[in-house]
Amino acid sequence: MRSVTLPFGTFYNGDCIGGAQAHLPDNSVDLIITDPPYGIEGDKLHRHYNRNEEYVVGGYVEIPATEYGDFSIRWVKEAERVLRPGGSMYIVSGYTNLYSILHALKQTQLQEVNHLIWRYSFGVFTRRKYVSSHYHILYYEKPGRERTFNLESRYGLSEKSPDGRSQNNADREDVWIINREYKPGTVKNKNELPVQILTKMIQYSSHKGDRVCDFFLGGFSTAKVAIGLNRHACGFEISEQIFETKIPEIENLTPGYLLSSLREPVLDNPENSWKSWTADEIRQLTAEYVRLSAEGMTKKQILHELGETHGRGHWAILKALKKNGLIPEKNRTSKRTASS
Ligand SMILES: C[S@@+](CC[C@H](N)C(=O)[O-])C[C@H]1O[C@@H](n2cnc3c(N)ncnc32)[C@H](O)[C@@H]1O
Repeated sequence: MRSVTLPFGTFYNGDCIGGAQAHLPDNSVDLIITDPPYGIEGDKLHRHYNRNEEYVVGGYVEIPATEYGDFSIRWVKEAERVLRPGGSMYIVSGYTNLYSILHALKQTQLQEVNHLIWRYSFGVFTRRKYVSSHYHILYYEKPGRERTFNLESRYGLSEKSPDGRSQNNADREDVWIINREYKPGTVKNKNELPVQILTKMIQYSSHKGDRVCDFFLGGFSTAKVAIGLNRHACGFEISEQIFETKIPEIENLTPGYLLSSLREPVLDNPENSWKSWTADEIRQLTAEYVRLSAEGMTKKQILHELGETHGRGHWAILKALKKNGLIPEKNRTSKRTASS
């Protein structure tokens, strides 16, 4: 099997099942992101990706529908073996063969974390039925260690949108609305995943230097984004034509090239946020609360002031005040209390 090793990744031209068996040790991968062939013979689904077929890289290898179930079991088992405990896997799947992938996952010890929906616009045109405009993303973990999940890698917990919603929460909803990249006139793989989706998965589920693997490289989009975010990439592509078209693009990448395009989350991690309160601190907090209330400050102002003084977040102060009876029980869930 031909392989190409670069300072930031190793790529194999061959079948992912045999390739993983030969080249990837047990528990050696931190994150798998992959988009297996869909097993749809006479596939027309891809056409809306890039309407002019002349710009689609040839050589895409499809799996016959009759073999799809068995093939899925075999590659998913290999993925399980190479993933480290606490590692994550994202599998992108259309609905036609979703059943086979879910069935394959059931044969492993991997556990579901989320079943995500990727919704995009410009679904395939139809006249006599609804327009399909989503994919499934199966987000699984290998048990045995705490899973990497970088909660504030994109939005700080305190960041709010203009309508007052938590941006962090919104970003972590399980329906992802992300458009495909329509690049007229450029040569690409049939089903290239958008940079935005891959960036999001990699930010939440890995650290710099982690090994990110794609069993079905196609246009090498997972590898490109992983390298762009300073991760180590690896993967397999069975088609020689695709492999040889994409390798020069990979060789020309500068590691970390995407980092400057990431938004900087606003982190509000007060220095004492993880420490428990001492009796002295609680006495001091109580006295300050009473004094500031008497001065006519609103609760919101007091929480802010006390947070600054004690090096703790809004919710930690609120909790301590409630626990010590300074904020009455009946106001606990009242929005007005927290924001007035
Ligand atoms: C859906 S595409 C992957 C698209 C890719 N995620 C991207 O963004 O460009 C699936 C790819 O898997 C390749 N493939 C098919 N069977 C394979 C196998 N047994 N091992 C490795 N790659 C295979 C196909 O040639 C195709 O390029």
